[in-house]
Formats: sequence, C-alpha cells, structure tokens
Amino acid sequence: MPAKSPEDIEGMRLAGRLAAEVLDYVTPFVKPGATTGYLDQLCHDFITGVQGAIPAPLNYAPPGHRPYPKSICTSVNHQVCHGVPGDKVLRHGDIVNIDVTVIKHGWHGDTSRMFYVGEPSVQARRLCEITYECMWRGIAAVRPGATLGDIGFAVQKHAESHGYSIVREFCGHGIGRRFHEEPQILHYGRPGQGMKLQPGMTFTIEPMINAGKRDIRQLADGWTIVTADHSLSAQWEHTILVTEDAYEVLTVSAGTPPVPAFAAERATA
Ligand code: MF3
Ligand code: CO
Ligand code: CO
Repeated sequence: MPAKSPEDIEGMRLAGRLAAEVLDYVTPFVKPGATTGYLDQLCHDFITGVQGAIPAPLNYAPPGHRPYPKSICTSVNHQVCHGVPGDKVLRHGDIVNIDVTVIKHGWHGDTSRMFYVGEPSVQARRLCEITYECMWRGIAAVRPGATLGDIGFAVQKHAESHGYSIVREFCGHGIGRRFHEEPQILHYGRPGQGMKLQPGMTFTIEPMINAGKRDIRQLADGWTIVTADHSLSAQWEHTILVTEDAYEVLTVSAGTPPVPAFAAERATA
C-alpha cells in the first residue's frame, strides 16, 4: 500500500466528496412507498449524468461472485450489507443502509449511512446511533503509529459494551485506484496488534453491527447478506486518510452527519 502523493490525495478527496454527495442527493427520496430499485435508479442517474462519475458496484465481480447488477447497495432491516436494489418497497419504521462507491478520474470514494424510513422503533434508532459511534470510535483511533488492532479494538469495545455483535466476515479495506485493496480493516481486534498506520494511507472503516447474534447468511441472489437470526443490523462507512498528525475524513459533504463530541476535538474534517 504505497503512500499517496498530494495529487493522489486531491483525487481521493474529490471521489470521496462525490460519494457523500450522492447520499445527500438521495436522502429526501428515502421514504415509505419508495422501492430500493427506484433509489438505485436515482443514484445511478445522478452519478453518471450529473457527477460524470462511475458507480463502482455496477458489474463489480470479485473472485467467487457473479457481477453485481446494480449501482448502489441498499440493505434493509436484517440485511447486513450488499443488499441488491429491486422491487422491495420501503415501509414506515424500516432502517436502510445505502452504500455508495463512485470512481472519479480513476479514484474511488466509498461511504454509507443509515436512513430511517419514517419513525424507527426505539431499538432500531439505538442500533443505528451506536453503530455510528462505533465507526467514529474506530476513526478516532487513526493516527500515524497506531495499529490496525487499535481501530478494531475501539469499534469492538463500543459495540459489545452495548450488547451488540460484530459481523466478522466483512471488513473495511484499503481503497484508491482499486475498490478493495490491502490492508483489511477488521472491526474487532486487540490494541497494538497488526500493521502500523502511516501518513498517506487511505482505507475505509465500515462496521456492521447486529442487534442479535453475529452469524450471517447469503441470499440466493449471490450478494445480499442477512443476519442468521433475522435481528436488525446497521452499518456506517467513511473513507479515511492517515495524515501527519491524525486523520482526515475524505467522504464529507454538506449533508454529512455531525462528528460525535468524543471525536470532534481531533477531527481535521
Ligand atoms: N461498498 C461496499 C464496501 O463498502 C462494497 C460493495 S461491493 C458490491 O466495500 F458489489 F456489492 F457493490
Ligand atoms: Co467499503
Ligand atoms: Co461501501
């Protein structure tokens, strides 16, 4: 994972901002009665027509997978990740993760947020909020000299202290000219273990947190991942740059939700 040059980082900033702006754009359309396929169509048209960018998921085919058929991922309720948009109608009280990855000038920006369809249950809101904090606990651990285990530990400790479980089969990842690069960013771990972070590294932090057990299943579509016990699952994702003194969040836009108080002091973005 070679450190990125200042020009590379400008490319990553632009791709990251565009990915976040897709989420801003689609936000008012996430309401009862909308289908996930409609949200996909809106995002696809915005990315290609307005941003002049490429939706990275479309036809993405990592080893062992059929080509992904849509431009975004929409994971509803007990869907953990990689939910394939289609005929599913969003209903009042649903929670949905929308995960957007765009390619601009060859660089990738990857970000996701949770959305409430109408008013969520108390438990669903709590899961989404704690998962947001889990992502930010991980981000706040990023600085040169910290290790990958420091990030994973910070995420895991926060989730488990609230009685939630962490999905282990999927993780954050290096990102740049390729969608998924080394290293893997696990959302569990032990302080001090694993690779040391260096300025110029770019990777995602994207914890998937289940209200019930951590076990997952893959649906017959070959992509959609669900909780085995059908408990609710939430996920948030940012693309992060390791800076000389800490980190910069690259997937920022006007609509990015606020940085939690515990991380606000050190935030560069
Ligand atoms: N955006 C997802 C991630 O955060 C990957 C989606 S791959 C797809 O890594 F093919 F399902 F789109
Ligand atoms: Co990602
Ligand atoms: Co993503």
